Amino acid sequence: MKKRRTFIFACSGSDCKSNGAKAFADAIKGTISEKAFRGKFKLVKTKCMDCCKSGPVAVIKNELIKKGDLEQLVKELVLE
Ligand code: FES
Repeated sequence: MKKRRTFIFACSGSDCKSNGAKAFADAIKGTISEKAFRGKFKLVKTKCMDCCKSGPVAVIKNELIKKGDLEQLVKELVLE
């Protein structure tokens, strides 16, 4: 049976970029490469998701993570 991974979409649009999207994406990458999460998630960078005022944003399991809230994102990872 094929292994299934959950996608995490991180915005890399210009507004999010100026609010720290790169650091947020790097933090996500670092978190999902930890032993507990390894191989279960895939980070995909996207264009603007039209939530610029809440940037940097990411989406996991239809849940919008606003303001680069890594803690909320980790909660979603754990619920997986
Ligand atoms: S630039 Fe990220 S939501 Fe628009």
